[in-house]
Amino acid sequence: MDWGQRNRLSKIIRPKDGRTVMLAVDHGYFMGPTSGLEQLGAMVTPLLRYADTLMVTRGSLRHYIDPDVDIPIVLRVSGGTSIIGKELLHEGTVCSIEDAIRLNASGVAYSIMVGAEFERDTILGFTQYVDEAQRYGIPVVAVTAVGKEMVRDARYMSLASRMAAELGADVVKTYFVKGFENVVECCPVPVVIAGGKKLPEQEALQMAYDAIHAGAVGVDMGRNIFQSPNPVGMMKAIHAIVHKNATVKEAFAVFQS
Ligand code: 5RP
Repeated sequence: MDWGQRNRLSKIIRPKDGRTVMLAVDHGYFMGPTSGLEQLGAMVTPLLRYADTLMVTRGSLRHYIDPDVDIPIVLRVSGGTSIIGKELLHEGTVCSIEDAIRLNASGVAYSIMVGAEFERDTILGFTQYVDEAQRYGIPVVAVTAVGKEMVRDARYMSLASRMAAELGADVVKTYFVKGFENVVECCPVPVVIAGGKKLPEQEALQMAYDAIHAGAVGVDMGRNIFQSPNPVGMMKAIHAIVHKNATVKEAFAVFQS
């Protein structure tokens, strides 16, 4: 990894403690006006001071986020299918590396569908993007999306995460599962967890805590933050777990305060 790529990666994962709170608000690229993100700018702006990185689409960035804002961007660059289409997550490239650079992205995110019908297409699209991103020193976050028919267990997440890393990912985003230590141990690049569907706040905090203590470098969380009745409280609580080693009890007190 050359200097530029390392420098960009240091904007995504804080060098001070090797951890990150990524705020994921890229859902609109396949879910449209996702509950909580109807007015994306108004939702996201007060949360940014507690985030290390914002994961977003190019359209949201241009329409909702002030370019003067001080937040590193991980740009969603894969897509092509919708939540109502027949081929959910049969993704390809939806944003060129040149546009990612124009938007001053510190990294890009690309989904792969290991074990699903379209795994080959998504993996070849991903590896082609890795080649382009490498050319310009842009780190790539592989999102190991899970098809409805796949079992979410440590065996599957290990397979998908390890494949992503071996195929060129700089960071792997996956889902927290029982036995997550094995997923992290077998993955040679930093791992972050997605939040998934909205959970009761204490459960979401417990998941973040367990992931960090199993070796994840952080979270890339969306719905469990912006669909909470207190999104700022959730951001502060997640920040406390990731960067201040707070317990779930302490973090929940932060959320409530
Ligand atoms: C979709 C994504 C989303 O950014 C991701 O799912 C994170 O958000 P959430 O915490 O709501 O699951 O990568 O593929």
